[in-house]
Amino acid sequence: MRKMRTQSAPWRAAAVLASVLLVGGVAACGNSDTGGGGTKDDGKITMGFSQVGAESGWRTANTISIKEAATAAGIELKFDDAQQKQENQIKAIRNYIQQKVDVIAFSPVVESGWDTVLKEAKDAKIPVILTDRSVDSADKTLYKTFLGSDFVKEGKLAGEWLVEQKKTASGPVNIVELQGSTGAAPANDRKKGFAEAIAANPNLKVIASQTGDFTRAGGKQVMEQFLKANPKIDVLFAHNDDMGLGALEAITAAGKVPGKDITIITIDAVKDGMQALADGKFNFIAECSPLLGPQLMDLAKKVKAGEEVPARIETEETTFTTEQAKEALPNRKY
Ligand code: AHR
Repeated sequence: MRKMRTQSAPWRAAAVLASVLLVGGVAACGNSDTGGGGTKDDGKITMGFSQVGAESGWRTANTISIKEAATAAGIELKFDDAQQKQENQIKAIRNYIQQKVDVIAFSPVVESGWDTVLKEAKDAKIPVILTDRSVDSADKTLYKTFLGSDFVKEGKLAGEWLVEQKKTASGPVNIVELQGSTGAAPANDRKKGFAEAIAANPNLKVIASQTGDFTRAGGKQVMEQFLKANPKIDVLFAHNDDMGLGALEAITAAGKVPGKDITIITIDAVKDGMQALADGKFNFIAECSPLLGPQLMDLAKKVKAGEEVPARIETEETTFTTEQAKEALPNRKY
């Protein structure tokens, strides 16, 4: 039987000292503000990402962008679909904290109620990046940055276009509004921006406003109710393309011509929405870009390296009329 070599006293002391230094070094890395909560330091970044769900074409494009960008950046992505439920997102974030990922990113389904779980991530020294939607937490140190659109501006652009179109209207212009998911930042902000813009013309009145949950099915169902309850609808403002596309079915079924009998304004500019605009069924779209993946991965790398990042990074966006949609459609990626 082979004998184990025993160490002499000075060697044993040196070995103990080396292992103390090593363990101390690793612990210091794991605890550093810049290195995330993980105890590994192999240069690889692991990101835990909690997605809202798969409610719209926009969301599908956003998920693809994030997954592709993670692969391209060499970032290991742990992805969770919260199915439009805040409790699922909180559960996913807690799992990521337990797994000691390097960075947590998420698109919050609603604006409120995040302080506790964000504090847990902060205590575990895992940086959080908000993407697409923000939170209403007063303590801005709970997250590193917010990358996404200015939803108030999108609503404003939609409203300003309508004000211009209806500037010669001599009587009331009845508007119905399909809101996004209740409590979601884009629903709150687009409503606000639109209301602010149309206040410029007292003839423009929102006569009904209800959530369609950002889905086609929701848009169709709520538009059916609007049409039954309101004999004169001049304009539909839908907080996203999908609800507008669902509403098209209800409008056609009610014997009206979308884009002519009812002016339709939406937000997003996904391919199906752009097609409806090019076909004259929609009249105007304010863009909301879902292609946030590459910027998100860059931010994750910077945050992990301890670099300063801006507190707010706004997505560049534009608007589309029918003519502009026809031009843009052939190269539209999503
Ligand atoms: O947060 C972005 C919004 O969420 C998009 O406008 C909508 O389509 C999505 O569901």
